[in-house]
Amino acid sequence: MNRDRVFEPNNVAVVTGAALGIGKTLAVRLAEKGMSVVMADLQGQDFDNAVKSVRQSALKGPDTVLGIVTDVSDPRQIENLKTVTLDTFGGVHLLVNNAVTRIGRGFEADLSEWRRAIEINLWGPILGVRAFLPSMLGNPGPSAIVNVGSKQGITNPPGHPIYNISKSALKTYTEALEHELRSNLKNQSDNRVTAHLLVPGWTTTGKAEHKPGAWLPDQVVGMLLEGVAENRFYIICPDNEVSAEMDNKRILWAAQDMTENRPPLSRWHPDFAQIAKAECS
Ligand SMILES: NC(=O)c1ccc[n+]([C@@H]2O[C@H](COP(=O)([O-])OP(=O)(O)OC[C@H]3O[C@@H](n4cnc5c(N)ncnc54)[C@H](O)[C@@H]3O)[C@@H](O)[C@H]2O)c1
Repeated sequence: MNRDRVFEPNNVAVVTGAALGIGKTLAVRLAEKGMSVVMADLQGQDFDNAVKSVRQSALKGPDTVLGIVTDVSDPRQIENLKTVTLDTFGGVHLLVNNAVTRIGRGFEADLSEWRRAIEINLWGPILGVRAFLPSMLGNPGPSAIVNVGSKQGITNPPGHPIYNISKSALKTYTEALEHELRSNLKNQSDNRVTAHLLVPGWTTTGKAEHKPGAWLPDQVVGMLLEGVAENRFYIICPDNEVSAEMDNKRILWAAQDMTENRPPLSRWHPDFAQIAKAECS
């Protein structure tokens, strides 16, 4: 069944991390379709500017776009996000847990950075789902929850273990959530709530300069809209350097570390790196 109806005009979307990058571009695209859009991010000039520009592109007028300052790791602020959203628009049909931090690089990072990264990248989506899912289950039409993961949460490349761990846990959480939603007796019709894992490739976001190998946020947003409409759970984006076929080979290689009794992260192990490079390109 085509679930394009999630994005119908007058439906309501909540997008976290909407001040920059993929979140901001998504907010623009949804507002252009005539959806009401609630943008959530930390306070700052970037957020103010983003809300202003999304309001300008809103098909149904500036009042259909709300910017609510929210730290997604704080249960009280998520509760406020829910209350203001439901009071203003009456429901939510699309929740996109997109906000991210990249603080805390390696194992030696300060514990406060470890905690903050897990709180934003993992607890943020968990709190978002707990806040919005109950009302979404009562919607008469189809609704969707999209959690934004990363290939780093699947293949675990060396260098940024805190981020990888947060995204790997988010993948496991979202897989279990989709199973739970599919099994929920109150959620059995064609109009049910579905969960999805969006996995961008290398994408130019934030304030980074665009490089030829990267995709632009609009391409990732296009994959999200298409993937949800087609009810695909894993929405894995390529980029201009890594094709879908290469991604599949890399994902399989990582899984086969276990089944082939290789060391973990063997793609970067001196005994295996050459073979992996040849097989995964
Ligand atoms: N850009 C890439 O190459 C890439 C690759 C793989 C996955 N992703 C994922 O895509 C999503 C979007 O990434 P992006 O590159 O567009 O991000 P970005 O860095 O451009 O924007 C992230 C936004 O999240 C906000 N944010 C940070 N902490 C927050 C908090 N506590 N509460 C609310 N908002 C907070 C930031 O202020 C910022 O506006 C992320 O989940 C990221 O992990 C991105």
